Amino acid sequence: MKISSTNLPPELPPDTKPLQHQIGGHFYGNPKTKFGILQRCSTGVVLKPFITEVRGKCEWRFYSDAFSDQAPENFCALRPFLAAPLGIYQYNEINYLVLENIVQKFVHPCIADIKIGRITYDFQASKEDIEKCHRRYPPLNEVGFQLLGWQNYNSRKNLYDYHDKNCGRSLTKEEIIYAIAHFYGAPRSDHRKIVRLVLERLTILEHIMTKQQGLVFISSSLLIVYEGENDNEINLSSEPKFDIRVIDLCKVFKVEQYVDQTGLDDNFLYGLRSYMNYLRRLLDDTFVYVPIDKLNCINQ
Ligand SMILES: Nc1ncnc2c1ncn2[C@@H]1O[C@H](COP(=O)(O)OP(=O)(O)OP(=O)(O)O)[C@@H](O)[C@H]1O
Ligand SMILES: [Mg+2]
Repeated sequence: MKISSTNLPPELPPDTKPLQHQIGGHFYGNPKTKFGILQRCSTGVVLKPFITEVRGKCEWRFYSDAFSDQAPENFCALRPFLAAPLGIYQYNEINYLVLENIVQKFVHPCIADIKIGRITYDFQASKEDIEKCHRRYPPLNEVGFQLLGWQNYNSRKNLYDYHDKNCGRSLTKEEIIYAIAHFYGAPRSDHRKIVRLVLERLTILEHIMTKQQGLVFISSSLLIVYEGENDNEINLSSEPKFDIRVIDLCKVFKVEQYVDQTGLDDNFLYGLRSYMNYLRRLLDDTFVYVPIDKLNCINQ
């Protein structure tokens, strides 16, 4: 990979621009990383740069295996929860993984990136890396997931309200529930309808993951998207449009690399179940939304 020695981001390949509606991860032009996710202007497909060869190759291998004709049945079952891989594209010696854009079909997408797992470091992490991960978000060991960011469509202003990972990580384990409720529309609209659908779909993912012996998904995220278009309309007849995928698969490893694993990805399952339990609380009749100051710091 050609890493620029200047402070400039790498040249954009033809017919590309920084990804629209990006929630977390590497942003194109960020002074620290410079690289970032792009999209093709003409087709909308996502171009994810190989930030390092190892990570990029690992992610590409995972997608190739999952979509190969020889993939075992339990692996095939995951496909509806993955963005379709569309190949590798190279420009100026930088490799990009080309993926289906899962947000494209939404008019006004409300999107959350939720990093799943208590452990976010891989088996090669040093003691310092591990400590850094713990310091970054102390409640993680109990909560099991991190809100890396979310955007809501604000139909009144025709703008998106965006909260980033710093906001997500500033929340205590008691406050998280209100941030999740906020993402699903509280207090402006009834969050229950969409929460119920998301929970049903996550139950299917949970089932698939319990059959997924042999792989661990470190630092992967759930990308949850729903249509914010009808914010102001009372549209009781139609089901809300939504989609859920698992993204960021550059740290998916075979279990043999983990000495104490029994075969199931307990780390991912713990985080997924914990998030699902928060959704169950949102469906409970006793749930009352409490506005919290930390959610007022929105970027638009
Ligand atoms: N297939 C996709 N369709 C639409 N948006 C996507 C897709 N994949 C990723 N995104 C957006 O890009 C953001 C970052 O994605 P991802 O976590 O895969 O990249 P990254 O963190 O920059 O890379 P890495 O962690 O592998 O270094 C997500 O929060 C999401 O908003
Ligand atoms: Mg990421």
